[in-house]
Amino acid sequence: MKIALACDHGGLNLKSAIKKHLEKLGHEVVDFGTNTSDSVDYPDFSEKAANSVAEGQTECGILVCGTGIGIGIAANKVKGIRCATVGDTFSARMTKAHNNANMIALGERVTGIGLGLDIVDAYLNSSFEGGRHQNRVDKITAIENKNL
Ligand code: RB5
Repeated sequence: MKIALACDHGGLNLKSAIKKHLEKLGHEVVDFGTNTSDSVDYPDFSEKAANSVAEGQTECGILVCGTGIGIGIAANKVKGIRCATVGDTFSARMTKAHNNANMIALGERVTGIGLGLDIVDAYLNSSFEGGRHQNRVDKITAIENKNL
């Protein structure tokens, strides 16, 4: 898969580990930064990765900041993005299966590298179930179309 990655300074170590992990699995990674530990503003990096997913340049995206919250909120402001902040493998699986999330966000200050990589695998190895969940995702899109 072609996967977008982005982080702020609070998520750099986990993003680097995820990048290495994905490349080892044979995925193509598009890294939107940041790539230093200098303090930056997470919306700047989140927006770039989210746009690449929304425009179809990448198939999905993985974001990391200190908590996974700010960078995920920012991504959800881009039309067409459904980004879930996840800290466990069950939620990672379910957000693909039920919400058809096209991005996930993780918090490096919350989640260790081992669990973080398991969360990424759980998300990538799951599939959207469609059916009644499609109807609900369509309703999310309708809210977006009305309000964004
Ligand atoms: C940066 O200090 C921190 O606020 C950021 O990484 C993130 O946790 C925000 O939600």
